[in-house]
Amino acid sequence: MSYFSYRQGRLHAEQVDLIQVAEEFGTPAYVYSRAALIDNYQAYAQALAGTDHLVCYAVKANSNLAVLGVLATAGAGFDIVSIGELKRVLAAGGSADKTVFSGVGKQAYEIEQALEAGIHCFNVESEAELRLINQIAERHATRAPISLRINPDVDPKSHPYISTGLKENKFGIDIGEAERVYAEAAALPFIEIIGVDCHIGSQLTSLSPFVDALERVLKLIDRLAARDIVVRHLDLGGGLGVTYRDETPPPVKQYVGALLERLAGRDLTLILEPGRSIAANAGVLLTRVAYIKENGGRKFAIVDAAMNDMIRPALYDAWLDIQPVDTGGRHPEGVYDVVGPVCETGDFLGTQRSLAIAAGDILCVHGAGAYGFSMSSNYNSRPRAAEIMVDGEHLHLVRARESLEDLMRGEQLLTEPGT
Ligand code: LLP
Repeated sequence: MSYFSYRQGRLHAEQVDLIQVAEEFGTPAYVYSRAALIDNYQAYAQALAGTDHLVCYAVKANSNLAVLGVLATAGAGFDIVSIGELKRVLAAGGSADKTVFSGVGKQAYEIEQALEAGIHCFNVESEAELRLINQIAERHATRAPISLRINPDVDPKSHPYISTGLKENKFGIDIGEAERVYAEAAALPFIEIIGVDCHIGSQLTSLSPFVDALERVLKLIDRLAARDIVVRHLDLGGGLGVTYRDETPPPVKQYVGALLERLAGRDLTLILEPGRSIAANAGVLLTRVAYIKENGGRKFAIVDAAMNDMIRPALYDAWLDIQPVDTGGRHPEGVYDVVGPVCETGDFLGTQRSLAIAAGDILCVHGAGAYGFSMSSNYNSRPRAAEIMVDGEHLHLVRARESLEDLMRGEQLLTEPGT
């Protein structure tokens, strides 16, 4: 089901006309569908029903409090990579004991605060981190629950910047070293081994890399069991892709089914950390065409959203569908590069798009709910966009557009010497 669909030629989010949203809140603006978030989460929860599981939404994909709140209420756990993300989860009503802490560079203060909050598990990425967690847990007279993030050396066949499970990536612990490091962990008095973790990359569109990784990790679990190191859960990370254009990722049910088939007969809780497959198609970015111009025979639609609002096209060469919100404009069709106001040639949302548009029109960038706002910045001193959540016929402003004053908050001029 699409939560963004045309009615009488105008794009709606659930029951709400997106032209109305642009008029009320201005552009650029991110718009999320609550129903889409819930249904995307439920796809995982239903596929896993009857099995011990925890779906830990990857907060980095979209960390708006309202998004986290909707998912927490639906029953989600969370995957965090910083203490800032944990603060958000807690502020949104999520619980630390359903939250796993991933990331290759956890700082001592972050480990300390996560331990105090009662984090479900630290996904440990190096021996040095393991020892630090042991020391901090000792100071707190407790045992820290951990899994080791294993790097299984599997090629996810995704963009190189979002592939994480290859030997040469910075992530995880080489699968060849894993038994030795687990044995070390087992000997540390303030560490409690509870799981094995692995995440191989993002926007995967086929099952085989997941299955390869799973099989390698299951063999490791067996080798550990032979050494009396028994884990309670297997965390397979996130990574399931979505359709932005013509990609055909397996549906969640098929993906989860393939995993469960290989887990049959094992007493393991399955943890997954989906981000994109929950949030991407639950959100769009609205932007207004400021100018149309032509240079060297190339037509440009200059819009008010830029790479600071949505960096994926510039950073990963990502293709996002761009369509007019109102198709009733009857403008002549042209082939446009849709570009923003930022002073970089890489500042584009899409190139060579056939669009029937004119200045003043509102465009919709689809598939923008994940890694959109959460990767946005103030580059070129641009306030970050508003975020709006649609719920049926209701609209909620869930993050106000930043003001110009917000841009300089915390900064100050040098005081004159001697004053
Ligand atoms: N777990 C871990 C440990 C991760 O590193 C990630 C994503 C996830 C879960 C969630 O993966 P997902 O289900 O969303 O694929 N900014 C990039 C994507 C970076 C993904 C980083 N890690 C993009 O816009 O394509």
